[in-house]
Amino acid sequence: MHIDIQWVPFPPSLEILSKKTVVVIDVLRATSVIIEALSQGAIEVIPVTTVEEAARLVKTFPRGSTLLGGERGSRKIQGFDFGNSPKEYTAERVNGKRLILTTTNGTKAFHSVAAAEDVLVGSLLNGTAVAERSLQLDRDVLIFPSGDEGAFSLEDVVCGGMLIDLMAKKSHTSNGLTDASSSARILYQRFEGSLLEALRLSGHGKDLDALGLGEDLFYCARTDVTDLVPTFRENVIRAS
Ligand code: MLT
Repeated sequence: MHIDIQWVPFPPSLEILSKKTVVVIDVLRATSVIIEALSQGAIEVIPVTTVEEAARLVKTFPRGSTLLGGERGSRKIQGFDFGNSPKEYTAERVNGKRLILTTTNGTKAFHSVAAAEDVLVGSLLNGTAVAERSLQLDRDVLIFPSGDEGAFSLEDVVCGGMLIDLMAKKSHTSNGLTDASSSARILYQRFEGSLLEALRLSGHGKDLDALGLGEDLFYCARTDVTDLVPTFRENVIRAS
């Protein structure tokens, strides 16, 4: 089994995606939000790329069944039910509901890798569970950090490095790691035990802090708070 990671989120070719398990990561904050919403009882999350698509799609579902969430410039979108802070997605508000989500990078990333055999949702919140599921699926793995408008994101690659470290330890080998994976693993080891430091050091972490959203960094830096491994299939993300 080969385990690779893309440090920069350019859309992979069909050849690269073929027969692979892909893990999409957007620690700050899209995949953390998706995992939180599903953990709190949302029935499914539909990631879409534009605000217009979200507004159009919500009208196709029965009134009251479907909520709109997401951000532009990290801020809540006008007329939407939620912004992009995981703590907003409480059981009281999302249980039994469908969520349509649009964010700057994270929701787009799912559509870039839709042709993969399996697309899993990863974050620090479910790291061990995602690493175990990726090994169980027994195919080559590509970790896909969502990045920041096409650029490298420290927190996403550190999270990818954590998944690689867990997979290497659980399978008792680092043979299948590409150079990119070994490097991400080393980067993770630098922050192991202080993941919040990586989030605070990241450009997006600093932006969120400046907007008064610093609490989200604490929320998204927690590890293994759930065993949920959501899967993206046919444009929808579900808990299993
Ligand atoms: C994204 O998808 O770019 C992020 O989730 C942005 C954010 O932190 O709101």
